[in-house]
Amino acid sequence: MKLVKKIHKWASVLVGIQLFLWLLSGIYFNVMDHTKASGSTYRSQIHENMVIDHTRLVEPKTVLGNFDPSIVIKIINILDQPYYLLSHVKALYPYFVNRYTLVDAYTGQKALVDESFVKQLASKSYKGPGEISSVTLITGFIEDFPKQKNPTWQVNFSDEIYTSVYIEQGSGRIVGHSDDEKRLADFFFMLHFMDYAQEGSFNNWPIIIFAFITLWLCISGLVWTVDLGLRGQYQIKYFAKQRGVKLFDKHQKSMGAVSLSTHTNLLDGLIEHDIALPSTCGGGGTCGRCKVMITPAAQSTSADHVHFSDKELQQGYRLACQHFCNDVDHMTLIDVTEAKKHTLELTQSRFVSPHIKELRFKIIGEASLYFKAGAFMRFFIPAAKGVSIPLRLPEELKPHWQHVEQLTFEHNACSRSYSFAQPSTTTDELVFTVKIQTAPNNTVLPGVGSSYLCNLALGQTVEVIGPFEAFFAKKDSNKTMVMLGAGSGMAPLKAIIEDQMAIMAKNSIAPRKNIHFFYGARTESDLLYADEFYQLAQQNEHFHYYPILSQTNDKWQGATGYVQDILLLNFDNFASDISGTNTTDEPSGELGNVEFYLCGPQGLMDETMELLKAKGVDESAISFDEFS
Ligand code: FES
Repeated sequence: MKLVKKIHKWASVLVGIQLFLWLLSGIYFNVMDHTKASGSTYRSQIHENMVIDHTRLVEPKTVLGNFDPSIVIKIINILDQPYYLLSHVKALYPYFVNRYTLVDAYTGQKALVDESFVKQLASKSYKGPGEISSVTLITGFIEDFPKQKNPTWQVNFSDEIYTSVYIEQGSGRIVGHSDDEKRLADFFFMLHFMDYAQEGSFNNWPIIIFAFITLWLCISGLVWTVDLGLRGQYQIKYFAKQRGVKLFDKHQKSMGAVSLSTHTNLLDGLIEHDIALPSTCGGGGTCGRCKVMITPAAQSTSADHVHFSDKELQQGYRLACQHFCNDVDHMTLIDVTEAKKHTLELTQSRFVSPHIKELRFKIIGEASLYFKAGAFMRFFIPAAKGVSIPLRLPEELKPHWQHVEQLTFEHNACSRSYSFAQPSTTTDELVFTVKIQTAPNNTVLPGVGSSYLCNLALGQTVEVIGPFEAFFAKKDSNKTMVMLGAGSGMAPLKAIIEDQMAIMAKNSIAPRKNIHFFYGARTESDLLYADEFYQLAQQNEHFHYYPILSQTNDKWQGATGYVQDILLLNFDNFASDISGTNTTDEPSGELGNVEFYLCGPQGLMDETMELLKAKGVDESAISFDEFS
């Protein structure tokens, strides 16, 4: 198969180059001046009325008497005089090899098409400004007329386009005119008809070989497509096969065997058997959490190279979301979660800001589910039609969507992860805050998952798997918590804050810790749950709320700018915050009493991480939620 692919690729390069040449030469043929391209720029139309003085004509049989009587004789007119043209060898076309004798019809003498004769002929056929500059008899290949196989005179004229008139030596026939315009057209004809050997025909070897290469391209493409289909690279169930794979835990203890479909990746295939590997990117190959070790080791992908060392790759470490089971016999699961598949029914859907919706779901057929604050669910988004502007948009929010172009788009099935916006609990009602992602430009689709979920009607269901726990408050820590987020990064931060406040309320004797919450939004209307946080800050001296806007009006009294900048301005407050008690071996000193929790757009997270590192914060004191 490797060889098939290699030849297919190189064949497609060749075909691609020729397709480009066809396109280029095709455009030229459309725009070219056809008269000029035929070499007729300075060609004069000769209208000769042959006036024959029959009294002077030598009888044809007298002429033929000197030659083989089987030859063909016809009378022609050259320079207003009749000649007998005797064809000793007459081929199908005049440019094929022929053999002629030209005889003066008045004298019966053999006429020679010599230099002075062709000069007269060429001058009569030419109407340009040039003079005859040279005359040459060509007996071999004629570049301007590659098909012409008979000895031919080339008469060159001294004009600006280098006109040449070609006259056949045997018959006095004007073969044609050529000039720079025709030579350019010939060059494009050569490219178009692949006449690289200059045979003057499209029935040439390069084009025959090219036809076979194209045939090969089709066949190898078909073989490759079928092979990819069988390997599950296409979402075509028809091609899918089941394959048994033996599973082992990280201690190499057997977990039995499962049958996986070749048309789903290992991550999704395992979910069918209620085995959920950790994942925060939903199978995008970016979080690096779905680690497995497979035997035999499949060819590594670029995503594998990002997350594994060369040694690990050699040992067979791979990302389960990037591979299919086609060649896998054994698979070691490095980490398995307790996550399970569920079906959720939408019970409430409301805007909590112009671009963010709070969605409430009920678990169907299950009593309840336990999850930790900060946990998330992976939603399976089916292939569907999406819209760029949410359906059922309340009238008062329409101005916020005015700048968005109304579009409908189709998307494939995919999965997306969303955090619970609830504290640790056991419940059958799940709450999420989902930001409806708009497209940054016309070349990109708006958020597929957010559009799908936020446009669900009440009562509609969606498949999920979870919960997954990757972002949570450190257990039994009394350190100051600095939470920083923006947009839908609110969900896990809100969940952790509510959780911590509840723990502190319950455990009134334990030392209290401070929580500082920095939340960035564009405008005041984007500050979701602001009233709740203001109230919490008023009621609890340990909770500090810092709403920050990037676009403000005169009424706004709070902080303006970027969240990370406001964090920096307040940094000394945390450094001197000694309300926490450091009871571990972690970095000591004032910063050792502070933990940072980040969740928001990637740019915000990256800049904040840089800032914290520059401030000397140890990496172990920073937790972040990757996917929000
Ligand atoms: S799920 Fe595989 S890398 Fe994230």
